Amino acid sequence: MEKLLITGPTALKGEVEISGAKNAAVAILPAALLIDGTCTITNLPNISDVKLSCEILEALGAKITWTDKNTVTIDSSNITSTQAPLGLTSKFRASYYIIGAMLSRMGSVQVAMPGGCQLGARPIDQHIKGFEALGAEVTVEKGHINATANKLVGTSIYMDIVSVGATINVMLSAVLAEGTTVIDNAAKEPHIVDVANFLNTMGADIRGAGTDMIKINGVPKLTGNATYSVVPDQIEAGTFMLAAVASRGDLLIKNCITKHLEPITRKILEVGGQIEDFGDSIRVWNTEKPKPATIKTLPYPGFPTDLQPQMGVVLSLADGTSIINESIWDSRFQYTEELNKMGAKINAQGTRAYFEGVDHLEGAPVFSTDLRAGAALIVAGVVAEGETEVYNLEHIDRGYENIEEKFRKIGAKIKRVTE
Ligand code: UD1
Repeated sequence: MEKLLITGPTALKGEVEISGAKNAAVAILPAALLIDGTCTITNLPNISDVKLSCEILEALGAKITWTDKNTVTIDSSNITSTQAPLGLTSKFRASYYIIGAMLSRMGSVQVAMPGGCQLGARPIDQHIKGFEALGAEVTVEKGHINATANKLVGTSIYMDIVSVGATINVMLSAVLAEGTTVIDNAAKEPHIVDVANFLNTMGADIRGAGTDMIKINGVPKLTGNATYSVVPDQIEAGTFMLAAVASRGDLLIKNCITKHLEPITRKILEVGGQIEDFGDSIRVWNTEKPKPATIKTLPYPGFPTDLQPQMGVVLSLADGTSIINESIWDSRFQYTEELNKMGAKINAQGTRAYFEGVDHLEGAPVFSTDLRAGAALIVAGVVAEGETEVYNLEHIDRGYENIEEKFRKIGAKIKRVTE
């Protein structure tokens, strides 16, 4: 079993380079199935969710060629199967994008119910509502999803809930449909815009991505033959920004789009951190004990739920009591028990948690319960006194490229060891 050994405390200092966005990459790769030809995707994060996505594409008949660790060429001209390997699709959440993509391309698909982080109930009713509105038949039985469509026809779809996954999935299924599809109450996350940009580069006609109304004019086919670079990862950038604040360090975070980071910069300023914005990089530093704050997670442009645990580390060390309201997921405070083992004083009740700031954290053995919880525990290990052991690294490796190397470069005493 692998674990991370971290010796703290360290004030993180220096420069860190942000990778391509996980949540954009895991949607763009299935989107490549829509192309009757080839495309090249650059700035892909080298993480296990991306590798799994590529394996699924290969099993469906796409030819995948890695030219370097962050660049892949995909030839989807000959899709040979509509059965996605159940063992692979059940491993991560974003495998649901195979449904929208394959419905578009082949009019048929069988996948397992998607897996991924246990953050509470993760229904896909809005995805199914969208597919059915376009004319597909969808059945869910014994953990398997079967979707078929003789023909997809554009229509107007109102999302009952703001959902990143459903917005992208319905977009995928509407790109080659006959006529125009309108998605109302769409999610607005940067990776939704990125997937739309990718599809438009390959020949689609999608307008309004990034607003709550997306209009997709169906086109007969996507021809590809283009190269697309994945947008920088907003959540990885935010993780390092919050690590700078928690550790009272000074980091220059490079290769990011600072506009996407605004919901985070606002809260960092509120807790006493400082920011210098250069557009494609951002300096974050902090010299004081953080001030307490009230946070509510919300869809973009609200404070992202995927940075809630990392913000929880900052607030554990604040000068007073803070509150986090988690409004997206029912069960996203499992990490607080791990932080309490390190001396934090957090009282989590349902979707709300109270953080009574403590003087310092102390190293302890801790277990990542999900991807972002794992990132938060690394930040906690860096700022804690003594030695922290972080277990369950498979969660972290799903979403962060080379994480210990990036932390080591900015001064953290961190190494991966096999027990
Ligand atoms: C995506 C991200 C995840 C992030 C989340 C919210 C990926 C691969 N994952 O997940 O990291 O935490 O957005 O920013 O991009 N819901 C329904 N019915 C549906 C779909 C969603 O009720 O059909 C609910 C969910 O239970 C949740 C809320 O809507 O309460 C938001 O979920 P959604 O935006 O769909 O999250 P994901 O796309 O799964």
